[in-house]
Amino acid sequence: MILALETSCDETAAALVGDDGEIHANVVASQADLHSRYGGVVPEVASRRHLELVVPVIREALGERSLDDVERVAVTRGPGLIGALLVGLQAAKALALARRLPLVPVDHLHGHVASLFLQPHASEPPFLCLLASGGHTLLLDVRGHADYEVLGTTLDDAAGEAFDKGARLLGLGYPGGAEIDRLARDGDADAFAFPVARVPGLDFSFSGLKTALLYKVRELGPGAEARRADLAASYQRAIVRALVERTQESAARTGAERIAVVGGVAANSELRAALPGAVLAPLQLCTDNAAMIGSAARFVEAVPYPRYLGLDAYASAG
Ligand code: KG4
Ligand code: ZN
Repeated sequence: MILALETSCDETAAALVGDDGEIHANVVASQADLHSRYGGVVPEVASRRHLELVVPVIREALGERSLDDVERVAVTRGPGLIGALLVGLQAAKALALARRLPLVPVDHLHGHVASLFLQPHASEPPFLCLLASGGHTLLLDVRGHADYEVLGTTLDDAAGEAFDKGARLLGLGYPGGAEIDRLARDGDADAFAFPVARVPGLDFSFSGLKTALLYKVRELGPGAEARRADLAASYQRAIVRALVERTQESAARTGAERIAVVGGVAANSELRAALPGAVLAPLQLCTDNAAMIGSAARFVEAVPYPRYLGLDAYASAG
């Protein structure tokens, strides 16, 4: 049994995952409400909240079980907010040290990919994976459970960031992806023609799209309010189109037979519908959680007791 922790951004999460990829517990305490009034995650506020939540969340994940049932402790080491990461990393070190257990440091992006390796709907590599979240937009050639190569990335904003910034321009709450998704259902996606950036290679760019929405909202002035659903639908259509086009292009180029989609944006209903036949991360495992970290940990070498004490977190990928 693996006890996994995830605190890289604004979710305090703990999970119990078996070696076969079975989820025994998966607890996520979202801080979204706390950050919504600022329109985004405030790093210092996030760190403090993680400190308050980390022990109760671990307790809840353990439930009737105790640390006697845990064989390894896994934790997200990066990338993410450094202060937030350190709370999870220190908690994991303390637990592992107290029980003389090994510790498995996990990369957050590997975690998102590994959300596909959990029971009862585990998928096997190889596949081409679109990882779209609030912090990252990546096309990955996944060859093994812990073996992948980056084919493309965003040159500016991440897809989730584009959703969140667009939501803010439309006066919706944070995080905005789910709100836009909901509002877009009542709108006409053809109402406005937003640009789909086509940058060279297999990369993405979303900053022009965000600016186009800003100009459109300004142009509509007080009339923007009445067109919010149409704006949301058209904006979402442009993001989804950009993601789908590049993903299919990469699949064609690499000869990948299967496409998989993970990360918070993989929860988007239009994106899910736009890739029929693709392997989609289960809805509850799209946004940040610790089960995916426990899943990845099964394929990462553990650091033996007590060598992990000097382990540091890292803020950025690579
Ligand atoms: O994976 P995640 O929880 O955190 C990061 O690792 O960044 O992704 C969060 C992102 C946010 O930007 C949020 O707006 C977006 O996922 N998101 C969505 C939806 N649900 C969450 N975007 C579009 N449609 C959704 N239904
Ligand atoms: Zn994430």
